[in-house]
Amino acid sequence: MEGAEHRRNRKLLMPAFHGPALANYATTMTAICDRYLQRWETLGEFTWLPELKEMTFDIASTLLIGSEPGPLTQRLSRWFSQLTQGLFTLPLSWPGTPYHKALRARDNLLAHLENTVKQRQNQPTQDALGLLVASRDEGGDRLSLAEIKVQALLMLFAGHETTTSLLTNLALALAQHPAVLAQLRAEQASFANAAPTPDQLKSMPYLDRVLKEVERCYPPIGGGFRGVVKPFVFNGYAVPSGWLATYSISATHQDGAVYSDPLTFNPDRFLTQEKLPDYSLVGFGGGPRFCLGYAFAQMEMKLFAALLLRRYHWELLPRQDLRQVAIPSLHPRSGLKVRFRKL
Ligand code: HEM
Repeated sequence: MEGAEHRRNRKLLMPAFHGPALANYATTMTAICDRYLQRWETLGEFTWLPELKEMTFDIASTLLIGSEPGPLTQRLSRWFSQLTQGLFTLPLSWPGTPYHKALRARDNLLAHLENTVKQRQNQPTQDALGLLVASRDEGGDRLSLAEIKVQALLMLFAGHETTTSLLTNLALALAQHPAVLAQLRAEQASFANAAPTPDQLKSMPYLDRVLKEVERCYPPIGGGFRGVVKPFVFNGYAVPSGWLATYSISATHQDGAVYSDPLTFNPDRFLTQEKLPDYSLVGFGGGPRFCLGYAFAQMEMKLFAALLLRRYHWELLPRQDLRQVAIPSLHPRSGLKVRFRKL
């Protein structure tokens, strides 16, 4: 989507991710995080990535399309996994190929979303889909059924895959940096032990810095595409208009001209480097396509991290491959095998 169409859709989606809508999401986010944390306590040892994916999908599907956790949400989650596995693959649509399975999964998801949208049109709800169905642009136009369906698919996809990646690498980084973990726990200890409130989330400066450093060191998405609208010269290369350019998030975050000692995990760099040059931390993109779910993701990650830090201990299991894999979003190859218990 480009130009006026992109701007219109973005504007219509905006209310679902900011202000009062966002504040309403905190209780559900906390309840779902809590349920998973308790489940992991009983499991003891497990692989964290698939568990976090289920958790973030439960949160996204409950808050964005109003689907209750249960067998249906599990089916949706399975279709999403098939869709994701076919995103970067040879486009050969023969029965059994990942691409073929991905197309089928996408069709199943769209059919489900079409039904849900029709229900919302008859019975408005408070989830993001309900807001989308009710929203109108300046001319009084609503989004069409076809538009809402694809927007809902995008929100669900964007709403859980990347958050899973960042949370998995947060858990990895903290297991590898005990001093950072201790400082985070000390910050949480300054609050009463009850569930974190949206107000408390505003006063966790160290957690903010750690999340920024995880975003810098482990950006879930390595880069993005931009159409060149005006010719320009970069490093002696002339780039004509009409070309497709990619911007590299990972390379930007490793730029020694911006970040001193860029390979070291050091959240406090954001204390001294408070004023970074524009576009040096771009894990959530930048410009007119800056992540629409930024505030949603920050709230979810901080609520989760606060609950985790206040109540649980985890350590990495030996003999696992922790090298990072970039696709579909950055994650340790092993999926992060951990031992987990209550503090
Ligand atoms: C850690 C979590 C997340 C990361 C790292 C992330 C990253 C990104 C990035 C890099 C882009 C820009 C792509 C570009 O340059 O074209 C983007 C766009 C977007 N994100 Fe996120 N995202 C996250 C969470 C979310 C969540 C939770 C949602 C929704 C609930 C969401 C919804 C979107 C949407 C709708 C766009 C498209 C915006 C547009 O094109 O105007 N994201 N995200």
